[in-house]
Formats: sequence, structure tokens, C-alpha cells
Amino acid sequence: MEFDLEEKDLKNAYKLLSGLVTPRPIAWVTTLAENGSVNAAPFSFFNVFGSQPPIIAFAPGNREPGIPKDTARNLRRTREFVVNLANETLAEAMVACAASLPSGVSELEHLNLATAPSTSIRVPRIADAPVSLECTEWSTLEIGKNRLVIGLVKRIHVQDDILDSHNLHVNLENYRPIGRMHGPDGYTRTTDCFLIDRPD
Ligand SMILES: Cc1cc2nc3c(=O)[nH]c(=O)nc-3n(C[C@H](O)[C@H](O)[C@H](O)COP(=O)(O)O)c2cc1C
Repeated sequence: MEFDLEEKDLKNAYKLLSGLVTPRPIAWVTTLAENGSVNAAPFSFFNVFGSQPPIIAFAPGNREPGIPKDTARNLRRTREFVVNLANETLAEAMVACAASLPSGVSELEHLNLATAPSTSIRVPRIADAPVSLECTEWSTLEIGKNRLVIGLVKRIHVQDDILDSHNLHVNLENYRPIGRMHGPDGYTRTTDCFLIDRPD
């Protein structure tokens, strides 16, 4: 099968790309609303793009044409955010944060999820998240109806039992990150990893 995203299949681009480019990591992004409440929302159009400097990007679309989601609106004002990463235990809470609550109402308070202060920015992180990246906005690209937020990572918080502090090896058994799969409700565990030797 071949699909023409320049012309006739463009209408199916979301279904095709989000269903086929899998698994995707999920950024569970916290931002600060104008009234000081902590907004949290998941975004699976997300990845890391470099380490020198350390950069990540995610893509919050508009809620309706011309109306940005709360995350994008908060970012425009504060230029700071935290990317929290979810594990199996937190997966349902992460997805529950996709509910459209009124602006200024915290998804985290609604779900009884605690926050912890960040060290380099004012936006708090999710206390129970196994990994949190404190970020500042480097730039936001508007490409057609897409918005690509590029962030500089300032600090990484990692739960002690998932990283060996000497060699920085990740303990997947303890981490248990999840990924986004096809369809609106598809997710994957990461409990079936395999190794392949790299050529020199
Ligand atoms: C797992 C998951 C991944 C999502 N990924 C995205 C995404 O990449 N971009 C996007 O605009 N919305 C995405 N959404 C929908 C947003 O999370 C949802 O619109 C949310 O209400 C936005 O919250 P906000 O208005 O507080 O920013 C995703 C939802 C889920 C459950």
C-alpha cells in the first residue's frame, strides 16, 4: 500500500502517522496557569532530539481552530514546563489528565496527585513520576496547524531505584516506562526488550 499525503490521503494523515509511528514516548507536561494552579496534560507527539545542548520537543495542537490548549497558552506566558514520564503504575492517571477541565483547574488536584518543587524553574513536577525533565522553551515553531515546542532540558530528576548512579545504567524492571500505540486507547509496556550488537 502507498498513501499520498500531498494530495488524496492527507485527510488520513493523523490516523496513518499516529497508528504507524509507534511506540511513542509520552510527555506528561506540567505548566503553571495564570492563577497559580498546576496544569498537567499528556502529549505523545514527543521525543528527545539532542544532548549538546539537551533538547526535547512536543506538539500541543489547538483545542479548536485558533484556540490553543492550556499547556500551549501557559507556555506562551511563562516559557517554562516540566516533562514528566509515566510508568505502568501512573499510566491511568496520565491518561486521565487528558480530560478537558476548565482553564485554571488543576488536573493533578482533581486526581489527588502530589507535586514537588522544581529546582531551576517555577513549574512544579509530578512527585511520583519516575523521571521529570525541567525545561525552558527554546522556541515554538508554528507549521500549518501544528505547533512544535522545542525545550532545553535544565535538570533531570530520576527516582533512585531506576538508575545506577555510578554507570548511569537504567533498571527497566524498576522503571517500567510505557509507550503510545495505535488507536485512541493503545499503549505498550516495555517488558520485552532484546539486545542487538552494534557494528564497529
Ligand atoms: C496518551 C495521550 C497522548 C496525547 N498526545 C497529544 C499530542 O501529542 N498533541 C496534542 O495536541 N494532544 C495530545 N493528547 C490530547 C491532550 O492531552 C488533551 O487535549 C489535553 O486535554 C490537553 O490539555 P491542556 O488543555 O491542559 O493542555 C494526548 C492525549 C493522550 C491521552
